[in-house]
Amino acid sequence: MGIGKKLLLSGVKPTGRPHIGNYFGAMKQFVALQSEYDSIFFIADYHALTTLHDPVKLAEYTLGVALDYLAIGLDPKRALIFKQSDIPAHTELAWIFNCITAMPYLLRGHAYKDAEAKNEEVTVGTFDYPMLMAADILLYDTDVVPVGQDQKQHLEFARDTAEKFNRLFGETFKLPEPHIVSEVAAVPGLDGRKMSKSYDNTIPLFADDDEIERLVMSIVTDSKGEREPKDPAADTVFALHRLVSAGQLDELKKRYEEGTIGYKESKEILAENMKKFAAPLREKRRELEEKPEYAKDALAQGAEVARKKSEEKMKEVRRKVGVAL
Ligand code: TYM
Repeated sequence: MGIGKKLLLSGVKPTGRPHIGNYFGAMKQFVALQSEYDSIFFIADYHALTTLHDPVKLAEYTLGVALDYLAIGLDPKRALIFKQSDIPAHTELAWIFNCITAMPYLLRGHAYKDAEAKNEEVTVGTFDYPMLMAADILLYDTDVVPVGQDQKQHLEFARDTAEKFNRLFGETFKLPEPHIVSEVAAVPGLDGRKMSKSYDNTIPLFADDDEIERLVMSIVTDSKGEREPKDPAADTVFALHRLVSAGQLDELKKRYEEGTIGYKESKEILAENMKKFAAPLREKRRELEEKPEYAKDALAQGAEVARKKSEEKMKEVRRKVGVAL
């Protein structure tokens, strides 16, 4: 890892196929920033376990995220890539954070409140999710965390936890900064709400052409007719054009405002551009799927380096809290 470079870290939870919200909101930034920073990209499999209790699927999605990382262009020679469960220090540090964090403070968590509001059976793991995430980040003295808007509160929890620990036991953890790109901070899904696996409104990043076409044509719009002027800022199809139709945006905007394009045509253009964008990524992923050992080896090698780094930090932490004799 480079000398004097700042440290960047982020993760993806293997709960299904990644979608274009994950890609444009976060993963694309991983690729762009991996050389500028010392970078760590991990797979948050213990976070996935808070809601996913199917061992076959968890294993499949976890290897899936590794393949996704490599397919989009993360380079294990430049960035450290591993899965969270291979590094015991993440859960150990999360426990220590549990012991200095007040229950009422965590009751404010959006993810916990959402799960409660949906009358779901909320696991202790879901409630405690922010502490494991704080551990993921703080363990490596992270400076910058590229994420979408929905993770902002988790970053605040991590900063607060670092401050609390430092106050109790002396200066130990750096305060990380979120890196959120405002234009893509909350990519909308097919129904106009934030794109999310839990809303079942996603366009998977590695969807095939038929699936892309079917999903794009199902995007919910208002009922304005073909010849009526439309507000691009209020339309989900246009919001997705911003991601993949760069060269045509001005023209599309003009046609929306003049009322010379219908939603059907706009969707057809979007589907074409989405297919062009997805094809090379899908091709690369297919090659990687044929030799999964490459991804597995990359994870194993990444884990070895991460274990050493994390163990150094944990020695300091154990000493500071008083469990090292
Ligand atoms: P996850 O797996 O839900 O999402 C991965 C990344 O995608 C971003 N994202 C979005 N961005 C824009 N628009 C959307 N519609 C959209 N949906 C998702 C997320 O903000 C995220 O950056 N808790 C994390 C995983 C995690 C983590 C960490 C991240 C665990 N530990 C430490 C950073 C640092 C999560 O569930 O992301």
